[in-house]
Amino acid sequence: MSVLRLGYVHARVTDMAEAKRHYGDTMGLYPMLEEQGRVYYKGWDEYDHHSLVLEEGGVGLVKLGYKVADPADIELYEKRAEQFGCLVERMSTGENREVGDGIRIVLPSDHVVELYHEMTLVGTEVGTHNPDVFPRHLVGVGAPRIDHALITAEDPGLADRFFREVLGFYATERVATSLDDDAQIIGSWLSTSNTPHDIAVIGGPNGKLHHFAFQLADWSDIKRAGGLFAMDDVPVDVGPTQHGITRGETIYYFDPSGNRNEVFSGGYLAFPDRPTVTWTVDELAKGIFYIGRELNDRFTSVLT
Ligand SMILES: [Fe+2]
Repeated sequence: MSVLRLGYVHARVTDMAEAKRHYGDTMGLYPMLEEQGRVYYKGWDEYDHHSLVLEEGGVGLVKLGYKVADPADIELYEKRAEQFGCLVERMSTGENREVGDGIRIVLPSDHVVELYHEMTLVGTEVGTHNPDVFPRHLVGVGAPRIDHALITAEDPGLADRFFREVLGFYATERVATSLDDDAQIIGSWLSTSNTPHDIAVIGGPNGKLHHFAFQLADWSDIKRAGGLFAMDDVPVDVGPTQHGITRGETIYYFDPSGNRNEVFSGGYLAFPDRPTVTWTVDELAKGIFYIGRELNDRFTSVLT
């Protein structure tokens, strides 16, 4: 029983034509389906049908989809989420295009998380027979895959407990008011795989999105993405720089609707038996931006 990974981010955009230029031409995602004010994208190295759904009208997050390892997991997570006090409802095949049945959970932080086991398998752009190491005709950044999301919660400690106790994630790192046992959690970085985070939660209003991130191969690709952002007038928030937390390399930037995105590379290999790293709140800026050690007002206040 396990949650495999972040399967999809479903986000709102104010203008679909601008969004398509950004996510298609600049980020180089592959448009898989377009219908009824929604566009479905995948990265070139993803097997399943889509990892990003854009819906026209507003900004921010509609929901996150996490794929589970076994169909029987759905019922177990349903029970656990109900016991945790969450509103849980069943979703049927086809409610989400190309996605099987599952459950929809409203988190204590008001975010909606869907768990599913099946999504139509379409394969990567290089296939499974003697594959090339990348597709020859990548567009723009050519992001291979979606990586993680950072959401805000009035009680990040409760959100941390939800992901650990209900979904079986493990906390790789956290920011706390002190090193004492009764310290309050200000932020939590949680993994359900071997990446340093599949979700992160920081203090803030319920239901909001801080950013979602695409994984790139390495620091060179982060720098190259920065060049493409300059060419395409993509507003950059912070970076390129390195995180203390996760040790990942990063640029934060905004899509044309104002949703913050990130290109992320590196980070350590994580395993569930690792102790949780704790950062004290006085070192928060260094934890987030290890090199510059400063948080700008925009980074801490702009949410969608
Ligand atoms: Fe991130």
